[in-house]
Amino acid sequence: MIAYSSRTGNVRYIVKQLGLPYIEIDDGLILEQPFLLFTYTDGLGEVPKVVESFLQRNSEFCKGVIASGNSNFGHAYFCKSADIIHRNFGIPIVRKIELRGFQKDYDKIIQFYHEVIEKGIFV
Ligand SMILES: Cc1cc2nc3c(=O)[nH]c(=O)nc-3n(C[C@H](O)[C@H](O)[C@H](O)COP(=O)(O)O)c2cc1C
Repeated sequence: MIAYSSRTGNVRYIVKQLGLPYIEIDDGLILEQPFLLFTYTDGLGEVPKVVESFLQRNSEFCKGVIASGNSNFGHAYFCKSADIIHRNFGIPIVRKIELRGFQKDYDKIIQFYHEVIEKGIFV
């Protein structure tokens, strides 16, 4: 499963390209099976509030984080949501993606998903 949050549609667009099961994060969502988290980046390098509270409830089964951002915010802030989640929850960063990204980004996510979520290999 990929749990995602998208405000302007970029993350939603990518998730639908992957051919993997996905679910949109909302205030009550609880996941009790391994999943990847896919978030956008808000504010100045911040984790969206809905994602932060989702992780308070669900970090145990989160095996990796993917972030979308915009490099116009500068290197220090680009996809910093992923860095914060890694630091606060110890979750590995799978990929940082510029806006809707490229096929090579999608390939990397799919490969990680097959190895870690489906086969249960921890990298
Ligand atoms: C108010 C606002 C603040 C943002 N801040 C950042 C940021 O600090 N770093 C970054 O990499 N991207 C930032 N972004 C860019 C978004 O994370 C990026 O456009 C992302 O692809 C949006 O995903 P979504 O369309 O699924 O909501 C910001 C966008 C908005 C509208």
